[in-house]
Amino acid sequence: MKNKFQNAGYVEPFCPVYLRKFIARWINGGEILDYGCGYGGWTKKIKEIFPKSSISAFDIDAQAMMSTEESLNILNKFSRDKLYDAIFLNFVVDVIDNDAEVIQVLADINSLLKPGGRAIIMYTPYEKYSLRWIFYRLNSLNVKEWHDKYRFQRVYYSSNELFNIIENSGFKILDIIKPRFFHKSGVLLNRVLQILPIYFHSLIVFSVEKR
Ligand SMILES: C[S@@+](CC[C@H](N)C(=O)[O-])C[C@H]1O[C@@H](n2cnc3c(N)ncnc32)[C@H](O)[C@@H]1O
Repeated sequence: MKNKFQNAGYVEPFCPVYLRKFIARWINGGEILDYGCGYGGWTKKIKEIFPKSSISAFDIDAQAMMSTEESLNILNKFSRDKLYDAIFLNFVVDVIDNDAEVIQVLADINSLLKPGGRAIIMYTPYEKYSLRWIFYRLNSLNVKEWHDKYRFQRVYYSSNELFNIIENSGFKILDIIKPRFFHKSGVLLNRVLQILPIYFHSLIVFSVEKR
């Protein structure tokens, strides 16, 4: 089944080895929640990485949540009466269009975590002075209109802006990776590549712990 994010160019998640290792380094399994699961692309990956864990899924889009629960045969329904060891918040901040809701979502995942519980947060940043940011600021490719057309406006935070919001939401940041398309190339080559359109595909992944 397609949803609006797939229509907007959203593709099946790609979980290369370095990302899988990063997740396995910081998340120890247990009760895991995929918050903003959508149609379950990432929920499926989480189940693959943590086959012995209990996986639950939540989304404000009830239809998406039900579809994920059914298609992945999720037996542990999301409940606000229990606390989780780990929460994934993958590409959810990307589809929220105001600071207040981002802060509310972060407060919500904080309150759903056990003491010392951890979260993985994936986000596609608008780094200051990157091509992506310049096009957005100049609106030369009608970035905002493109997002509006596909019915999801979004925030345009840089990595640093989101870092500060997460830190002020009751989390300690444990680690960060900023994989690039050519993530194995050196720093200098990556600097050069940043000026190319490939930099459109930037990503930041935070591993955080409830304070
Ligand atoms: C781009 S999709 C990502 C889906 C999934 N996490 C993935 O990466 O495959 C964003 C999802 O976040 C959900 N969402 C947006 N705002 C939310 C909120 N305040 N609380 C829970 N889910 C939310 C949307 O309904 C949508 O399914």
